[in-house]
Amino acid sequence: MGITGRRHQEIYDVIGIGFGPSNMSLAIALEEHGESSPEHPVTSHFFERQPQFGWHRNMLLPSTTMQISFLKDLATFRNPLSRFGFISYLHAQNRLVQFVNNHDFFPTRQEFHQYLEWAAAGLDDKVTYGSEVTAIRPVFEAGADTADLLEIELRGSDGATTVVTARNVAISTGLVPRLPDGMAADERVWHSSEFLSKFHQHDAADLKSVAVVGAGQSAAEITRFFHDALPHAQISAVFPSYGYSVADDTPFANQVFDPAAVDEYYYGTDSAQDAFWRYHRNTNYSVVDADVIRDLYKRSYDEQVRGTQRLHFRNLTRVTDVKRAGDETRVLLRSTLDESSEELAVDAIVFATGYDGVDPAHLLGDFDRHFERDAANKHRVERDYRLVSAAELTCGVYVQGGTEHSHGLSSALLSNIAVRSGEIADSIVMRRTERELDRLGVAEEASSAV
Ligand code: FDA
Ligand code: NAP
Repeated sequence: MGITGRRHQEIYDVIGIGFGPSNMSLAIALEEHGESSPEHPVTSHFFERQPQFGWHRNMLLPSTTMQISFLKDLATFRNPLSRFGFISYLHAQNRLVQFVNNHDFFPTRQEFHQYLEWAAAGLDDKVTYGSEVTAIRPVFEAGADTADLLEIELRGSDGATTVVTARNVAISTGLVPRLPDGMAADERVWHSSEFLSKFHQHDAADLKSVAVVGAGQSAAEITRFFHDALPHAQISAVFPSYGYSVADDTPFANQVFDPAAVDEYYYGTDSAQDAFWRYHRNTNYSVVDADVIRDLYKRSYDEQVRGTQRLHFRNLTRVTDVKRAGDETRVLLRSTLDESSEELAVDAIVFATGYDGVDPAHLLGDFDRHFERDAANKHRVERDYRLVSAAELTCGVYVQGGTEHSHGLSSALLSNIAVRSGEIADSIVMRRTERELDRLGVAEEASSAV
């Protein structure tokens, strides 16, 4: 079911922007709230710009695995009895027994994607696909000095604009691909987020020399993929470190992704917050799973034994420029070892150079000035993920993602989404009740004054 027409009259309690795992998890939390409180459900709808559900489809490479336990799914940590848990999915597929026999906490990304598609199908009446949110505005009713409502502007796949109204929005628009300064993507210069679609636009036989930039999980997975998919090609892996560093997923370090760590980070001192990053950034950023590192090294060693090296690891090296002319792509490399420069001709280059977090400002536009920022110019965010706003706003803007500065390392990951979306759902319900009580109080005062 989708919303049609130029202006939809219903006022929703919450509109979700984006329908990736974070907002799917919120849709489930709200649905389960409605089941336990049918007389007073939270009305919601979600808008997703993709034409159908998809989770980082361009990185669904063969054999890649999840970096979290299957139990960190859309619901289990909040409600182990949810019908949207990974175990319910396995049961529905008649694969629960086989999954357990497989003794593996980390499903393939392919299987997790199928799980998410299955969950999305179960939420179909809650989402409109092919609908991009382009703006959020407050509604100041005539004579009112507070805005209780928001208008959300949408662009459909036919280009038509629609406006819907809600008391709250939950912005979960995901990560923003990052290219090094001065680089621009085109048909031969790709960011890892568009990898498979760009790869399939080319005849593999024409890709005789390729380069992959970066030393994170994306770079290592793409380098391995190229080695399999382009058996004739020279593959250069360009990265600034000496070697790939291992992603620390040992149990003590992994606790930084626990729900309890969010409180410790949020209420922690500056030096406690700094310690999270200083000691544990290597749980996620610029790091690679140990099995992928070993696999790449083994491939390189086998080539040395055979005397046919086509995997080239250019460590201590950064890409400083890319020159494009027609089909020609020349990459300028700078070694930090001796500051020497070198030019490399490639048929395609992939920047697996990471992502930035969500910044809601691009959707808020002029409305953004109603929200407070900290000394580093980041949005101030309440513990319940609501942007801190000026007093004249009683409507709420919630964010899922883009809160590493306030809520810590799990912000951009799946680890905590079930608990986080439960906290957002509780906050929406609690604030709605408070507003209703306030209104009742005002009405009572007025009637007793008569
Ligand atoms: P996500 O990006 O998934 O979804 C956002 C959605 O919003 C998208 O569907 C987008 O189309 C939509 N959208 C954006 N703007 C919109 C607009 N204006 N209007 C409407 N829709 C809009 N983490 C982890 O914990 N374990 C893991 O194994 C992995 N694996 C992984 C692999 C790869 C390749 C990447 C790049 C990242 C991961 N991650 C991860 C981290 C990743 O951030 C996380 O898995 C989720 O994608 C976060 O879910 P979200 O819903 O917040 O964003
Ligand atoms: P990332 O971890 O941020 O790594 C980016 C890499 O690019 C870093 O090594 C960075 O080096 C390097 N880089 C940046 N600019 C460069 C330049 N000019 N020249 C050379 N190198 C440069 O990004 P990611 O690998 O895409 O990972 C992002 C998220 O996605 C992580 O959460 C990761 O776990 C997740 N992911 C998961 C899977 C999976 O589940 N299987 C797969 C892929 C990604 P510096 O160290 O100097 O910054």
